[in-house]
Amino acid sequence: MTFSLTTPRPLIAGNWKMHGLEGSLDEARAVAAAVAEQPPAARVAICPPATLLHRLAEAMAGESVLVGGQDCHPASAGAHTGDVSAAMLVDAGAKLVILGHSERRDAHQESDALVSAKVEAALAAGLEPIVCVGETLAQRDAGQAEAVVTGMARASLPAALAGQDFALAYEPVWAIGTGRTPTVEDITVIHAALRAVLVERFGDHGATVPILYGGSVKPDNAREILSTPEVGGALVGGASLKAADFLAIIAGA
Ligand code: PGA
Repeated sequence: MTFSLTTPRPLIAGNWKMHGLEGSLDEARAVAAAVAEQPPAARVAICPPATLLHRLAEAMAGESVLVGGQDCHPASAGAHTGDVSAAMLVDAGAKLVILGHSERRDAHQESDALVSAKVEAALAAGLEPIVCVGETLAQRDAGQAEAVVTGMARASLPAALAGQDFALAYEPVWAIGTGRTPTVEDITVIHAALRAVLVERFGDHGATVPILYGGSVKPDNAREILSTPEVGGALVGGASLKAADFLAIIAGA
């Protein structure tokens, strides 16, 4: 990939989902050590479960691996049992937060409007949001993939993102955790459509916002996916849990 001064570095973010206990910090330490020894082209982030955020941030201190949350509540504080606010993520050491992941949209009925409100809360707390969109297999088979993801992006990206650091992630639901990936042509079409939405919404700034691809990114497909037009990084689930796999993906950027 070639990048101009106005093009941000690609972002490779690991999403640990509901995986990880104390011992998993060793994997993150191995990633940090390798990244420090040989700085990659990409910015690298790990988004652990909330229980590990603080310890991971401490373990990464001074290293070039960013730490992120996987969700936040739209309110800054309040009677919301079990939820975590954006300010709490910052307090624990997070710099980024994944919002609108399909597993949250599906299992927690998160609407585009709620995701948009969460993005506003994240920005207010100083976090860099990674906003996820993606179609189901039924939507793709019905020829609706492009319309669905561009609609989700328009409704999930608040105007407050203008001029702010953020990333948009295209994650086809049917590719997450399945080992299946779209073709390079399919990724190209969707990323171009998402770029058009970003430019329509945010002008010149929208032309530089990284659009990540997520869904079964592995060491053996990372380089091809990351060199696809308009792919500005990756959101990596399962393959981010092992340092060796995650580092192989990072090397593909
Ligand atoms: P996967 O998950 O890499 O395990 O498919 C990606 C994601 O859900 O972010």
